[in-house]
Amino acid sequence: MTDTITITDNRSGKTVTVPITGGVFSSAALRELDPNLFMYDPAYLSTAACASSITYLDGENGILRYRGIPIEQLAEHSSFLETAYLLLNGDLPTADQLAKWQYDVTHHTMIHENMRKRFVDGFHYDAHPMGMFISATAALGTFYDDAKDIFDKDSLDKQILRLVAKVPTIAAMCYRFSQGLPFVSPDNALSYGENFLNMMFKIGDDYAVHPTLARAMDILFILHADHEQNCGTTAMRVVSSANADPYTATSAAASALYGPLHGGANEAVVRMLSEIGTIDNVPAFIEGVKNGDAKLMGFGHRVYKNFDPRATIIKKTAYEVFEVTGKNPLLDIALKLEETALKDEYFVKRKLYPNVDFYSGLIYQALGFPVDMFTVLFAIPRTVGWLAHMQELLSDKDQKISRPRQWYTGVDTRDYTPIAKR
Ligand code: CMC
Repeated sequence: MTDTITITDNRSGKTVTVPITGGVFSSAALRELDPNLFMYDPAYLSTAACASSITYLDGENGILRYRGIPIEQLAEHSSFLETAYLLLNGDLPTADQLAKWQYDVTHHTMIHENMRKRFVDGFHYDAHPMGMFISATAALGTFYDDAKDIFDKDSLDKQILRLVAKVPTIAAMCYRFSQGLPFVSPDNALSYGENFLNMMFKIGDDYAVHPTLARAMDILFILHADHEQNCGTTAMRVVSSANADPYTATSAAASALYGPLHGGANEAVVRMLSEIGTIDNVPAFIEGVKNGDAKLMGFGHRVYKNFDPRATIIKKTAYEVFEVTGKNPLLDIALKLEETALKDEYFVKRKLYPNVDFYSGLIYQALGFPVDMFTVLFAIPRTVGWLAHMQELLSDKDQKISRPRQWYTGVDTRDYTPIAKR
């Protein structure tokens, strides 16, 4: 007998046998043994909370595919908007479909004037751009009275289009505000990546985006577009399961991404490299990490235990960018850290390798982005992945509102003690 699992409850002697499909069995079988039996799985290390056909990830072998297509092929041949279409619709677009999608996205990039004048202008002058981005994505939904019509496919498609088109505008708007610079309107003649760089950095009339840098931006967006059930996507699914609107759910997912263990790591990497300061300090820093004084940011991954395929592509892209911008002086420290860590027993034993964030921050810095914009740069493309997961969740008949159970470990029962007797 194969592809089944038999579980015996030794308290009652009851047994249940359930099929294993694709390495997964339904934990509902446990409830047949005892309706009050639950699996204790903090941080969902062994739980598949959904079935998904969007992204395939094999951490042992360093494989990442969107809708079956290897990330390496997409990074080489595709554009971000084409990849976004693939993630959201399941297949690569035809030439006509791509042209329409690009046109539609390009023609939804504008933001209501009140968003800038009354909402963004209300922030304190040194507000973190990610805090602004999180708030602004939620606020954006209040401008659309159809935002909540998530079970009307046309309406949901419209909200998805709006979000994909407008998140770069929001991001650039937050940056320009933090710099005290005038807002640059979207330019319909530019590609998605070019338009974003233009809205970020244009000062005067002679600014033009370098094609190598625009392509690097596009590649970084492709690499960050989805990564199956990570912390941010799980937040997206949990909030969406309550049937919240896509703007609110995106804001929640972006909030999870903001954490330094998740999308905040690229910012932490550059800060770490700056603190290390010189190559000579690398051995002492590595010793400190091994002693538990610090983490080697940009290293390690919950799922990748061999290499992160995104890191390989990003390292190559970094060199292409540095050809144009000149080398980021922190690169040598990063290379020395990588070399030292990959030879060290501590990191080898724990299967800790550079992840997507180890080199991406160096590229962002070379492109001119301040460190506190880095997580926003992750959130822009990831919005596509989040929305693809929201769509999938809403059409999945197995899904309900998320509501995990707990293992209660508190006091059983006791009487209220009046304050004078405590
Ligand atoms: N530096 C030093 N030690 C580490 C690191 C690190 N970056 N990452 C893991 N370890 C150690 C950890 O202390 C533990 O050691 P021990 O077994 O002695 O207790 C062991 O390796 C296993 O680590 P873990 O914390 O159980 O692994 P996890 O799967 O829970 O955490 C992680 C994954 C990404 C949160 C963690 O590796 C980490 O904090 N890395 C640094 C932050 C980072 O770069 N995050 C970006 C992740 S990729 C982008 C994204 O998807 O968001």
